[in-house]
Amino acid sequence: MPNSPNTLYDFVVVSNRLPVDHVVEPDGVTSWQHSPGGLVTALEPVMHGVAGAWVGWAGQADLALEPFESDGIHLIPVELTTDDVENFYEGFSNDTLWPLYHDVISAPGYHRVWWESYVAVNQRFADAAAKASAPDAIVWVQDYQLQLVPRLLRELRPDLTIGFFNHIPFPPYGIYSQLPWRTQIIEGLLGADVIGFQRVADASNFSRAVRRLTHYPTKNAVIEVAGHYGPRRVLAKPFPISIDSHSYEKLARDPRIQKRALEIREGLGNPKTIMLGVDRLDYTKGIGHRLKAYGELLAEGRINVEEVTLMQIANPSRERVAAYMQLRDEIELTVGRINGDFATMSHQAISYHHHGYPREEMVALYLAADVVLITALRDGMNLIAKEYVASRFDEDGVLILSEFTGASDELKRALLINPHDIEGLKEAILKAVSMPKRERTTRMRALRKRVLHYDVARWSTKFLEALEHARASRHERISTVDSPTEPERPVDRMSADT
Ligand code: G6P
Repeated sequence: MPNSPNTLYDFVVVSNRLPVDHVVEPDGVTSWQHSPGGLVTALEPVMHGVAGAWVGWAGQADLALEPFESDGIHLIPVELTTDDVENFYEGFSNDTLWPLYHDVISAPGYHRVWWESYVAVNQRFADAAAKASAPDAIVWVQDYQLQLVPRLLRELRPDLTIGFFNHIPFPPYGIYSQLPWRTQIIEGLLGADVIGFQRVADASNFSRAVRRLTHYPTKNAVIEVAGHYGPRRVLAKPFPISIDSHSYEKLARDPRIQKRALEIREGLGNPKTIMLGVDRLDYTKGIGHRLKAYGELLAEGRINVEEVTLMQIANPSRERVAAYMQLRDEIELTVGRINGDFATMSHQAISYHHHGYPREEMVALYLAADVVLITALRDGMNLIAKEYVASRFDEDGVLILSEFTGASDELKRALLINPHDIEGLKEAILKAVSMPKRERTTRMRALRKRVLHYDVARWSTKFLEALEHARASRHERISTVDSPTEPERPVDRMSADT
């Protein structure tokens, strides 16, 4: 039954995107589509298990929507204007923070008007979360687009227990320190009680930034924060994210999906080996490096298209940001060249698809793929690696995985590669193509053990346990402290005119 607009929630998730996107087709017909990216993939199953609300943007500018239910989840839309989309989303989130946090693979832009918009939109998300939260609720804020929300929310609602999870890497201080607003972001995050990262390295990069930019002492995972309704203890540590592994395995066991996998193989001319790449079309994914290695192997005659085909799914992403437009041109030029040079009448070299596909089709692709190639130059986790492994209940298939992904910390029995080392990547492809069945099984079995055990339910349970613990300690402190600490006045350092 739909809840009234005044219902308050004990558990609230806040992320830039809602799990569904409002899409207007060229003929004017509107529909709801599944949102892209790993964040939504991971959080959706978590939300199905709890009666909470999800605050986020519906993916289209200037769209004011009332809260609604979708697939059993209560969604609270936050509106972004055309200007917000340009400055907060495409600008500061995806042309400043995204490249900065991914090793400056593309040059970040530092524009004051983007920052002003980031502050204003973060405030809007904090207001919406404050309005939806019951007294003493838990609020879980997600990802780099909303790093100021924990603090803004604490200023509005000191009764809440606030978590933050960063789905992307947190960069080393030498890179992070380029950011003109580096201190405000750290102070924004420190409004949370628990801050989660994908990798050990991300958490230690963050602690180092805290030491360099604030006076707060850090010891292991604990930061002692003064002020901000403090003194408070903030926990900052790794909680590597995962997927709903069993649901992938279940789909893979469905005979209709297995039949579809055979059709896909047939459609490609039944080559001996199908290699698969699946990525948002993003410069962090190293798609060009992958194409280079494959193209060189064909040129050198070490593989041929009748035997080894590459299927590349490139999910459209952030298409109005210049760096993404340029990437698309480069990738599509390279695909065209490789196909022009090497395709035969019966076999393409690269089967290229600039689309997203529903989960059923993805699982069929995973079953059809003998090798999955993940060549990211930097990636918080990379859930495609886990989806492939979870789908391969037949214990077959080879995963080639970049060591610059969070997933490589866990999936050690993949063929780990450095995507910058094109010769090494070529050797790994040759090894994957000719790997004996026994070795494929031993490796896949070990990978599956990890992915099936450490699934997204475990991830969220661990994070939420840490938040429950933080809430209990806060209650304890409040009941033992005689006079509450003076609330700190809203801090000028967070103002937009820096
Ligand atoms: C990554 C980010 C998410 C983001 C997704 C899709 O997974 O961590 O926060 O939502 O990419 O990107 P988009 O810009 O389309 O939301």
